[in-house]
Amino acid sequence: MGAAPARVVVGVTGATGAVYAVRLLDRLRAAGRETHVVVSPAGVLNVHHELGLDRKAFEALADVAHSPADVGASIASGSFATEAMVIAPCSMKTLASVALGLSDNLISRAADVTLKERRRLVLMVRETPFNLAHLRNMTSVTEMGGVIYPPLPAFYHRPQSIDELVDDTVERVLALLDVAQAAPKSWAGL
Ligand SMILES: Cc1cc2nc3c(=O)[nH]c(=O)nc-3n(C[C@H](O)[C@H](O)[C@H](O)COP(=O)(O)O)c2cc1C
Repeated sequence: MGAAPARVVVGVTGATGAVYAVRLLDRLRAAGRETHVVVSPAGVLNVHHELGLDRKAFEALADVAHSPADVGASIASGSFATEAMVIAPCSMKTLASVALGLSDNLISRAADVTLKERRRLVLMVRETPFNLAHLRNMTSVTEMGGVIYPPLPAFYHRPQSIDELVDDTVERVLALLDVAQAAPKSWAGL
């Protein structure tokens, strides 16, 4: 019997940037990862507003979809082996919940588990400008070992389309997860 595929949890919240989640799920699937997705109610609103997808169509991009209310799901326990978790995009509300260890829904619980098990947690936080609570919460998550990765595009590769900007950001996140297939554009010097 072969080894089970590595699993990555993807939380999707109500910040703008649902396209990052779509691209991330796509690329994780291509890289042979088993993906577990959890979309918050506000995340569903944004996925529909920004991409025209309903919950069912969006969840079909993952191998397993969990309800955000299901705190008894497999990914709510550290005994369920996962490689990493990404929250893409991550609202300030979910950031706060992770920073405080609230575990008030399956997204923040799975993030809490990821931190306690010392696995890779990447939060693609999205808000602008930041208030002091946002900044303090990002500091707390960083102190706990999480990675704050706001999807801020780089322009030095002269991107020609929004897709290119999104792709490069997602490739950098995949590189943070040590996905061998990650292909971030690297800086070769001026
Ligand atoms: C269209 C739309 C865009 C939003 N964009 C953001 C955003 O970029 N960042 C953010 O922190 N909240 C944003 N919000 C607010 C969150 O959706 C709201 O705080 C929600 O309670 C987050 O819940 P969740 O973290 O459980 O998804 C947006 C809301 C809407 C309706």
